[in-house]
Amino acid sequence: MKVAVVGCGYVGLTTATALAWAGHRVNVVEIDERRVASLREGHPPFFEAHLDEAMAACARRLRFSTSHAEALVGTRAVFIAVGTPASKDGSADLSQVWSAVEQIVCNLTRSNVDPVLVTKSTVPVGTGDDIADRIRHLAPHHQLPVASNPEFLRQGRSLRDSLYPDRIVIGGPERARAVLREIYRPIVERSFEPLPGTTHPYGHTTPSVIEVDRRSAELAKYAANAFLATRISFVNEVANVCDRLGADIDSVTAIMGADPRIGSHFLHAGVGYGGSCFPKDTRALHQLARMHGYEFALVSAAIRVNESQRFRVLERLAWTLGGVEGRRIALLGLAFKAGTDDVREAPSIALARALAARGANVIGHDPRAVANARQVLQKVVVLTTSIDEALRGADAAVLMTEWPDYLSLDAQYYRARMRRPIVIDGRNALPEAVRRGVEYYGFGRGALRQPTIERSRVAAD
Ligand code: UDX
Repeated sequence: MKVAVVGCGYVGLTTATALAWAGHRVNVVEIDERRVASLREGHPPFFEAHLDEAMAACARRLRFSTSHAEALVGTRAVFIAVGTPASKDGSADLSQVWSAVEQIVCNLTRSNVDPVLVTKSTVPVGTGDDIADRIRHLAPHHQLPVASNPEFLRQGRSLRDSLYPDRIVIGGPERARAVLREIYRPIVERSFEPLPGTTHPYGHTTPSVIEVDRRSAELAKYAANAFLATRISFVNEVANVCDRLGADIDSVTAIMGADPRIGSHFLHAGVGYGGSCFPKDTRALHQLARMHGYEFALVSAAIRVNESQRFRVLERLAWTLGGVEGRRIALLGLAFKAGTDDVREAPSIALARALAARGANVIGHDPRAVANARQVLQKVVVLTTSIDEALRGADAAVLMTEWPDYLSLDAQYYRARMRRPIVIDGRNALPEAVRRGVEYYGFGRGALRQPTIERSRVAAD
């Protein structure tokens, strides 16, 4: 089938590549000409493992253009995958969605069978209804059914998540659902060439297709992300209690996770979540509920816990070093998680700023994200692509992203370079041998004396 995708961020480009891989002909529209030029040469605008190889492998079915008119010819569905960043009040800024809808409507031709308009971007509940109203107003002669088809892909494994999803959610009227069922058939039946190295990563169970009304589909995306975010904040609070009670978070979560009602995923304590989804979607859900007269207390608490979690590193540094002013602190990892060069809402960025504001000399390292970090941190901290340089002469090192590059360093590596081998493991990821060979502090890994700085004071600063 012929489909179009509007927007070339993580969601748009991955969706387009996955659909092309599954056998569809995909026209991708992106308004940024430079982006289109480099996409035509096979270069994604961000780092995502294996995406460029997959794009190259299905290049015949994947076309990039700045023209909506060109991209829409003969398409059965148009996926809107533009950004929905957070506004100042936390609600989603839908300006790119509205502009995409207008462009699509203005570029429809009468000879076309009207395509289904599908929102892939995470949008507030009711946006699909508003889009349908807008279309009725702008193009009364056209009949474009509107569907919500949220994605659940994770950066770093986005192609795999798109081609081997555990569920496909389709919300909207039957006409729209019928087209989407057809589009997703190869993915449901797994009739495509397996992705190299990722043959049926989740076993042989095929994804369930969940067909619902549009509003439920829209809300499900927020609810799923907010639930996962709440889970992380919950486990981080358990870790904070472990520190005070002398219990071990790994043992506690192993026991919790052995209960199938709880499950073992997303129980990893550390500096908290970041990225382009959890922080934005939790705030948007909270704001959305509030606008409709409901105070979503749990989500609001999850956000607060997450925002203070990263500053626990600051407490630990201040406590072990007797203050951070004038100290050289190496931040290992700037990306919000391993496998991506994305620094959006990364705990490392907020921590770097807070440390620098307190007079620390911060040196940040990341194997992939230095260029993006430079744009947001500018001159606040020194950035390097050499781990050796980052650690040399450091008074303390903080592991902020669990890149394999860091996990393979042994204790001697830290000891040989640092002034004092204080290592704070913000991801509870360092191996046992390193933990024993340095002055190690994890999250919820045994007794921690009360920090000298009050938590409330650090957070208020
Ligand atoms: C997330 C959702 O997983 C995905 O379904 C949705 O479509 C987009 O948002 P992503 O942002 O790529 O995906 O990252 P994810 O792997 O979910 O991790 C999010 C953050 O939570 C990262 O900062 C990660 O380090 C943190 N995390 C995750 C924890 O701190 N502990 C955990 O146990 C799991």
